[in-house]
Amino acid sequence: MLVLGIESSCDETAASVVLNGREVLSSVVSSQIEEHALFGGVVPEIASRKHLEAVSDVVADALKEASVDLKDIYGVAATQGPGLIGSLLVGFCFAKGFACASNLKFTGVDHLHGHLMSVFLGQEVPGFPYIALLASGGHTSLYLVKDYLNYEIIGRTRDDAAGEAYDKVSKMLGLGYPGGKIIDDLSKKGDKKKYVFPRAWLEKDSPDFSFSGLKSSVRRLIDAIPPENIENEISDIAAGFQDSVVDVLVKKSMNAMKKYGCNHFALCGGVAANSGLRSALKEKSEKFGFSLYLPSLSLCGDNGSMIACAGYYKFLNGDLGSFNDEVYARALFKQKNGF
Ligand code: KG4
Ligand code: ZN
Repeated sequence: MLVLGIESSCDETAASVVLNGREVLSSVVSSQIEEHALFGGVVPEIASRKHLEAVSDVVADALKEASVDLKDIYGVAATQGPGLIGSLLVGFCFAKGFACASNLKFTGVDHLHGHLMSVFLGQEVPGFPYIALLASGGHTSLYLVKDYLNYEIIGRTRDDAAGEAYDKVSKMLGLGYPGGKIIDDLSKKGDKKKYVFPRAWLEKDSPDFSFSGLKSSVRRLIDAIPPENIENEISDIAAGFQDSVVDVLVKKSMNAMKKYGCNHFALCGGVAANSGLRSALKEKSEKFGFSLYLPSLSLCGDNGSMIACAGYYKFLNGDLGSFNDEVYARALFKQKNGF
């Protein structure tokens, strides 16, 4: 079954053709980062306009790159939410129109479901049930994934998402947007012990996260350093900040593995590209003997392949969308697919 996946929830217009939910035949991502970087974050109105400009070409390129006939595509899957409403509307409405005009099946996909499915596009795939840590710019949650369409949130951030904290700290340090990769790269050169930032463990055994206190703590430190000295301290601040984020993400993930007795663990979302987080999890998987699934770097950030993969399982399940379906901005927690 060939599925065309379309993603437009934030600042990437992306489309992919995926075979049987496993094999990526094409993946085209048009990023708007340069447009938003000028403003230090995503500007929703600019984002939707840019999606509108890009979507037809991105889809056409994905179909061309896959070298498949439109008549061989089974259905179109598009991100329905959560995300920026204007951006979602562009990809979702395009997908509906495209499916309708080409006589293809159609389904909406939850963006977070898509991220969770990104590990099924690799060589090795996890076995159910497994624990997944989904850390992105908008969400940071732990999931118990029971099968392709059934997953439960077992812990979530109470304030900022991990990626959001990276972006904000980068901004405070006068660095660019998005901040994740910049801080990650800087932290490799820094001393993580020079500035030890707090870890928000919350109540005993809490599976939840909180990154806003850490962010404020970085702010206070920056304010206490004379501006002319910041440049010399930047790598050490980045390393200390990353150490705090990774420490909490990894320890809470390991607690969840123990609590639910799982032997497989998957990492997904934009922050899954983080080198410190990937290596800390690899270390833990060797130490405790569990199987670790890390998406390739191109599948960590937003992409159409993960949406096509989630759509494939929805199509298999006969879970078709309707042309009356609407997009949604905020995560759904109590829906039939486990949210
Ligand atoms: O999943 P994603 O592409 O979009 C959302 O759904 O939010 O995630 C983007 C987030 C941004 O906050 C970005 O700074 C973060 O992922 N990110 C990273 C790294 N690469 C991207 N965070 C930490 N380390 C990285 N290497
Ligand atoms: Zn995302």
